[in-house]
Amino acid sequence: MARPNGSSIHFPITIFTMLTSAIFSSLFILVSAQPWKRGIFIEPVTDCTQLPSYNNHTKMAGPWTLKVDSCYNGTATRGLCSIEGFESGQDITRQREDRPNTIEHGFITIVSDNDNIKTTLRCNGALNRIEAYVLSGVTPGALDWHAVGIDHHPSTGRLVWGKPQAVPVQAYRHYHRGKPVEGLFLGSNNETNWTMHSSGRDVSITDMKPFWVMRLMIPETSIRENEFRTLIRIDGS
Ligand SMILES: *[C@@H]1O[C@H](CO)[C@@H](O)[C@H](O)[C@H]1NC(C)=O
Ligand SMILES: *[C@@H]1O[C@H](CO)[C@@H](O)[C@H](O)[C@H]1NC(C)=O
Ligand SMILES: *[C@@H]1O[C@H](CO)[C@@H](O)[C@H](O)[C@H]1NC(C)=O
Ligand SMILES: *[C@@H]1O[C@H](CO)[C@@H](O)[C@H](O)[C@H]1NC(C)=O
Repeated sequence: MARPNGSSIHFPITIFTMLTSAIFSSLFILVSAQPWKRGIFIEPVTDCTQLPSYNNHTKMAGPWTLKVDSCYNGTATRGLCSIEGFESGQDITRQREDRPNTIEHGFITIVSDNDNIKTTLRCNGALNRIEAYVLSGVTPGALDWHAVGIDHHPSTGRLVWGKPQAVPVQAYRHYHRGKPVEGLFLGSNNETNWTMHSSGRDVSITDMKPFWVMRLMIPETSIRENEFRTLIRIDGS
């Protein structure tokens, strides 16, 4: 009599399976129809007027620093990052051999100590682009505003200036379960996740101090062993 018993047990299980899969597929339809319900949803802020300290007369928003926000350290208790809230700095990239006395490009960093020299950025409403106040020109260089963008190379994803191929950056508003999250975050091409790694023994030209390298997580890059995930927030937002 084992077989009939077995089939009578299978019957309610089959009903149960059908019910759960029906519930799950309707949940799936709900989720697909409302993408923000999946968790984080982001929206570009295309206009400088919406950024902190916008001046209607100069058409500039800023200057402000960039700040490490929601940094995650997988090896620390509760994921706490020692550099949470640290602000932007800068360094220069290797210059052309034939023009060693001119600073033509560089990148934005995060300082290794919040007492170190910081670098400010702004949104230029006349040219509709984000610029940084960086050391450039004939060495030792002078501070001036230059457009920044993402160096779209698999090994970097860094925030650079002076590279014509760099992809523009902009601010994004984040939504969590449909509700706007406080702050505006820097990103490019609908990506706002960054990674950070220490410069090691490299020091910045501005203060001879080590720094953190921030890289946007572009499709070509993957997180490395020594890197931490973070968002980059526009200070004052
Ligand atoms: C901003 O400036 C424009 C002219 O450039 C003017 O038309 C507008 O009223 C100003 N807006 C505010 C809020 O002052
Ligand atoms: C991450 O956590 C480890 C272990 O607590 C710590 O040694 C390291 O300095 C932390 N790094 C950052 C960036 O928070
Ligand atoms: C970014 O995301 C928004 C909203 O999901 C979408 O409308 C837009 O086309 C996306 N832009 C890019 C460049 O992927
Ligand atoms: C950031 O990373 C998280 C975790 O991998 C992912 O769920 C999310 O979609 C990413 N967000 C953006 C805006 O790139």
